[in-house]
Amino acid sequence: QKRLGILTSGGDAQGMNAAVRSVIRTALKLGATPFAVMEGWQGAVDGGDRIKQMGWSDVSSILNEGGTVIGTARCPDFREKDGRRRACKNLLDHGIDRLIVIGGDGSLTGTNEFKNEWPELVAELLEAGEITKEVAQAHPSLVIVGLVGSIDNDLVGTDMTIGADSALHRIVDAIDNVSSTAASHQRTFVIEVMGRHCGYLPLMAAVAGGADYVFTPENPPRLGWENDMAEKLTLGREAGRRESIVIVAEGALDAEGNHITSQDVANVIEEKLGVTPRITILGHVQRGGTPSAYDRWMPTLLGYAAAHEILNADPAKPANILGVRHNRVTRIPLIEAVAATRNVGKLIEAKDFDAATAARGNSFEK
Ligand code: F6P
Repeated sequence: QKRLGILTSGGDAQGMNAAVRSVIRTALKLGATPFAVMEGWQGAVDGGDRIKQMGWSDVSSILNEGGTVIGTARCPDFREKDGRRRACKNLLDHGIDRLIVIGGDGSLTGTNEFKNEWPELVAELLEAGEITKEVAQAHPSLVIVGLVGSIDNDLVGTDMTIGADSALHRIVDAIDNVSSTAASHQRTFVIEVMGRHCGYLPLMAAVAGGADYVFTPENPPRLGWENDMAEKLTLGREAGRRESIVIVAEGALDAEGNHITSQDVANVIEEKLGVTPRITILGHVQRGGTPSAYDRWMPTLLGYAAAHEILNADPAKPANILGVRHNRVTRIPLIEAVAATRNVGKLIEAKDFDAATAARGNSFEK
């Protein structure tokens, strides 16, 4: 019987539970034995009862829960070779050489490096007498499948990452709530949203929430934005708006590549318009709470596809990510997707903002 592990790694995201549930139940239906590796890679490094065999009812009633019930962590031990050797040994002790990993691009890159290193780790464990020749021969390679879990929606090549839709709902709700109090007092609010180096959440929140101005990392405001913003806010008020809302990405940049903070924006508003804006930093509420309907059914489809993929994949072939692309579940080479995502970061660093914006959406259009 084939054995497979599932783990969630990096920052949690709403909808991870739907994927975990779907992988485990599909694996059981296909006659395989699924295990949850608890607390991300830390569970693999620690082994023991942190690698738990899962049954059908172990994933009951989690579809509507936020976060990840199998835990996640950023794992420094896994960055060291010794930690990865222990992870390999613990997985082999459970007969696991197939892993579905749900995480962001950092977690998926680490997972791919582990796959590449696996034969070397197995050889070392054999030489040290920690595993038998039979075990080494039975598990010569590691098969992995990646699912992208991140509220940031920053993976090039997929339409939506798991969690992004729920986070966007959370942000738009917050904008609506802030708007009513802002309108009552005729106030100006600066709202800071997450997304790391990706402007998806701030941009879509600005569109959906009817904001007056937005700052993103990929598309910095032109020189002289201070006057432009002041003019836009003034025009809004002149047209009868009782409130002004400015959205600032946590990773917002100016045209020179310097970080623009929500406090910087508030200072400019105060200086140009003579009003004291209130700053609301939404923080981790964006990542918590119940998943949206989309973040339940989409990860369910991905989990189903991932369980099939992991049980049939050719270990000799490079790893794939499964994601939604053009509204279809699609297989994307992991290396290519991660490299394209990193490239956006490099373009932003090089201040080639037009290319960065284009690369977010177009890298896989052929
Ligand atoms: O990547 C998801 C994310 O929520 C980012 O939007 C944010 O910058 C970061 O994680 C926060 O990380 P932490 O939870 O470690 O503070």
